Amino acid sequence: MKIRFPRLLLTLTVFCILNSQSFAFEKDPAIVEKVEALLTQMTLEEKVGQVSQIAKDVLEQGRGRFDENNMKRVIVEYAIGSILSGGGGYPAPNSPQEWAKMTNTFQKYTEQTRLQIPLMYGVDAVHGHTTVKGAVVFPYDINIAASFNPELAEKSAELTSDTLAATGIQWNFAPVLDIARNPKWGRTYETFGEDPYLASIMGARMIQGYQKSGKVAACAKHFVGYGAAESGLDRQPADISERTFREVLFPPFKAAVDAGVRTFMINSGEVNGVPAHASKWLLTDILRKEFGFNGFVISDWEDPKKIFAYHKAAPDLKQAIARTFNAGLDMSMIPMTLEEIELLKEAVNEGLVPMERLDDAVRNILYVKYELGLFENRYVDDTQAEAAFTKPEQTEIARMLARQSITLLKNASNTLPISKVVKRILVAGSGADSKSDLCGGWTIDWQGAKEEDLILGHTMLAAIKEKIGATAQVDFLPEQAGRDQLVEAGNAADVILAVVGEKAYAETPGDRQDLSLTPEQNAMLDALQSTGKPVALVVVSGRPLLIDAAVQTAKAALYAYLPGTEGGAAIADVLFGDYNPAGRLPFSIPKHLGQLPLRYNDRINATYEPLFRFGYGLSYTKFKYANLQAPKTVKQGEPLTVSVDVTNAGNVAGDDVVLAYYTNKYASVTPRRQQLCGFQRVSLQPGETKTVTFTVTPEQLIVYGETLQPVEELRPILLQIGQLNAKLDIVAANE
Ligand code: BGC
Ligand code: BGC
Repeated sequence: MKIRFPRLLLTLTVFCILNSQSFAFEKDPAIVEKVEALLTQMTLEEKVGQVSQIAKDVLEQGRGRFDENNMKRVIVEYAIGSILSGGGGYPAPNSPQEWAKMTNTFQKYTEQTRLQIPLMYGVDAVHGHTTVKGAVVFPYDINIAASFNPELAEKSAELTSDTLAATGIQWNFAPVLDIARNPKWGRTYETFGEDPYLASIMGARMIQGYQKSGKVAACAKHFVGYGAAESGLDRQPADISERTFREVLFPPFKAAVDAGVRTFMINSGEVNGVPAHASKWLLTDILRKEFGFNGFVISDWEDPKKIFAYHKAAPDLKQAIARTFNAGLDMSMIPMTLEEIELLKEAVNEGLVPMERLDDAVRNILYVKYELGLFENRYVDDTQAEAAFTKPEQTEIARMLARQSITLLKNASNTLPISKVVKRILVAGSGADSKSDLCGGWTIDWQGAKEEDLILGHTMLAAIKEKIGATAQVDFLPEQAGRDQLVEAGNAADVILAVVGEKAYAETPGDRQDLSLTPEQNAMLDALQSTGKPVALVVVSGRPLLIDAAVQTAKAALYAYLPGTEGGAAIADVLFGDYNPAGRLPFSIPKHLGQLPLRYNDRINATYEPLFRFGYGLSYTKFKYANLQAPKTVKQGEPLTVSVDVTNAGNVAGDDVVLAYYTNKYASVTPRRQQLCGFQRVSLQPGETKTVTFTVTPEQLIVYGETLQPVEELRPILLQIGQLNAKLDIVAANE
């Protein structure tokens, strides 16, 4: 017998997996009443203004020179609903106080409008409030995924949110919940990697962190399929089966709804021939009706226009705009022109967009504005802004997350940690002398920060010097130094640190058709290798690079991803044994380009021979797993509880990330090779044993059958934790 899960039941229970408390977004009737009262007073002009978002650039005459006429025109005449700073959209000077003054100035103009509706101001604070100079740059989401530590994820989001609120910003275009389907994509580092369960847990926790104070709305983006273009590239066509949507791409977004996220942003790309922004199926049927989303939906940058101008899926701009609002869009990130506001007005007048649809969009936006407390107070105290950016806790959490994310991939003959009494070390590779490389894109500027603009933190080189510089000679050479110099310095050193990876990038400019190290980096590695000295490799990149040859010849290898301003210090902590690494790969690292796309959870009959698999990561100690306790059967509809004893069998303290997977021995559809179904990060002293318990919910055991109905099919499954496994049967509830 099969039990079918009605979608609603599924909704409720998936929610319980992710939250012990309720975070669901339930509307308050008192606010709904206020919204309705305000809506009835609004003219058509005020409504189309409310559903429009303009970039702050449109109000300026050159950076930071806010023009009185432009502000009057946009904020007062057009009664605009929202303003944003895109990547690099900082005022001048770029200080927290100036940001607060800027948002206060804009809000001041709203008082001159007829209904005095406050603005929502949005930014991309995707790894801290990092468009602001002097902000702590937190490790990127790819690091957060590698840390397997949801508590720290939530805490980092909460701290980011404090700085947003202090600068008068109520809206964060984060987290990115796209699944990284192909590392050629220039936004891989903004994601939580390739696994939907990990992304669901982390995304939900970050949303809770961002929204905790009630002063900031988070934004689940980019719904949906953005990271899944066939070519692997940004804003390229994607061909996605409904099965892949349901099994892989929807879950993090569904988890976001259940975590109470207030806003959604739509995928700029096109899916199965339909631009996502024009898809009523995605925006209304799935998001609203199936997921039960209650908040409001914003477009991505210029995307209503792109339906016409890029995707060619509308005869003209007006019809493109009409199409996206009719599909279910609530606010358009226009954001560089006022023309589209006029066109939307015309579209409503001509009956292309029903007034009820526009009213609904306005309602959804106003509700969130009321809830954020903007109608009571739309201003911040600019004199307090600076102080919000200098809380020691920000640096501490950033450092902890960076340390916890760093992943040890190889450590032959215990090359690491390096002894602090080492006499001479060569640090090679320009990445060692860069903070910008550690921070990646969306740091001050869209494509990444200039070195001199990063005030906080350390480069790797500076952190190493700080740690051992008093007693050891620390030499540095960039890869451009050339072979002779590298060989000479390498010969003189006791140990060599080779830093490779990528420079900062964002979005489409970050797409790559090849993921090799640069020719200079390869030449550097070759030169260093020829010395016969032990080489430890550090990779600074937010996506898997082709490091097979580099890892073969190195004695040790670390993946640091994009660990932010505390990353240099965190890497030094790991290199010299002040922190025992426990990060785990949130993506598969391929041996060569031809293997792409490569994911651990593809179907069981797909070849999976990565260089390093998803979830891989070593430690300076050894962990042993024993006593896997699992029942022989689990009844349909009931949770499955399993436990395992983890022992630190080495002689240094450390964390272990225990990963639980399952696979269907068979099912009505070909099983995935493995599915992560639980993880826990535990700290263990030498000799210490802890029992780790996982509860797998019935919803996690669902199979989307041949007709895509979610069914907990009766079948044998194999549970795997480390080398241990247990076979159990899912049996009928009445058995
Ligand atoms: C990006 C979004 C971002 C927006 C605003 C777009 O180009 O795709 O992720 O939120 O710009 O900066
Ligand atoms: C980005 C914005 C950025 C702009 C720069 C857009 O695609 O999303 O954040 O400011 O390009 O031109």
